[in-house]
Amino acid sequence: MFTAVTGVSGSGKSSLVSQVLVELVAAQLGQALPAEDEEGDPLERAAPEATGGRLASGLAGIRRLVQVDQRPIGRTPRSNLATYTGLFDPVRQLFASTPEAKKRRYDAGRFSFNVAKGRCENCQGEGFVMVELLFLPSVYAPCPVCHGARYNEKTLEIKYQDKSIADVLGLTVDDAWAFFADDATVRRPLTVLRDVGLGYLRLGQPATELSGGEAQRVKLATELQRPARGHTLYVLDEPTTGLHPSDVERLLLQLNALVEAGNTVVVVEHEMRVIAAADWLIDIGPGAGDEGGKVVIAAPPSEVAGAPNSRIAPYLVRFLAG
Ligand SMILES: Nc1ncnc2c1ncn2[C@@H]1O[C@H](COP(=O)(O)OP(=O)(O)OP(=O)(O)O)[C@@H](O)[C@H]1O
Ligand SMILES: [Mg+2]
Ligand SMILES: [Zn+2]
Repeated sequence: MFTAVTGVSGSGKSSLVSQVLVELVAAQLGQALPAEDEEGDPLERAAPEATGGRLASGLAGIRRLVQVDQRPIGRTPRSNLATYTGLFDPVRQLFASTPEAKKRRYDAGRFSFNVAKGRCENCQGEGFVMVELLFLPSVYAPCPVCHGARYNEKTLEIKYQDKSIADVLGLTVDDAWAFFADDATVRRPLTVLRDVGLGYLRLGQPATELSGGEAQRVKLATELQRPARGHTLYVLDEPTTGLHPSDVERLLLQLNALVEAGNTVVVVEHEMRVIAAADWLIDIGPGAGDEGGKVVIAAPPSEVAGAPNSRIAPYLVRFLAG
């Protein structure tokens, strides 16, 4: 089901969903939680508090927990759209299977910019080098040896159709989709990325450069292209923050696709379109702080609209009418 958790700011939505639910489910599944942002002063980070409470039921249908947020993907520019979504593996296989690569005994690892044999050694496959300036902060400049290509000359001599591996990383998702028309394995993730409106991104775009909304859609697209396994609990806290109305529609399509595939989606949300589209609402409140923290009503949107004590009810009435 697609469940939305509503309530005024400070009513306890994030405490319930992003903290308690996530911690308890992760503990039950024996799944480690992704580390919180390690940057910043460790003393200023919230001390991990033991979460009270227990899961009463429902875990039988859940095998995996995924939190999808707008935090950047990866911390190094070595992670990019192609590596993160996994489509770089079959692409490297394609290069390794060309007659010239076979003749030279180049394997798929040769076409990774993280492996010494194929990459440019001057920049260690980064494509740029740090230039120390005397009185100014250091700057990054394109690598003078590979000119940003990230690979050594020998590797770049191998062409798949008419393109080198560096050329492929320079393609947009849309162009790559056309270029790899004959290869279903490479095309599947590209199709999903196009579906979520990211056809304009370059395959080699460093993951650290993606905007929050883009990062979130890349994460969802990566989930969507997995062979349908179902039984996954997806938790999202205010996923529409910063999204354009048309991107909200796209996000809704993705979330619904996950539910159709047999998964469970729980979102904390203030955006009425998402709230109205949910199968089930849990309204937390009624107020903020000490006046919050209670389940005001848990029901389908049409029913919540008629609840006398729910603060979201009048907005739902207006939204559902309009
Ligand atoms: N670690 C904490 N210790 C004490 N109080 C906390 C802690 N975390 C949250 N609170 C308080 O609990 C209440 C609920 O916070 P929570 O973050 O769950 O709200 P929310 O419903 O997600 O609000 P918003 O819509 O603004 O994100 C707030 O009054 C908040 O100040
Ligand atoms: Mg919150
Ligand atoms: Zn280089």
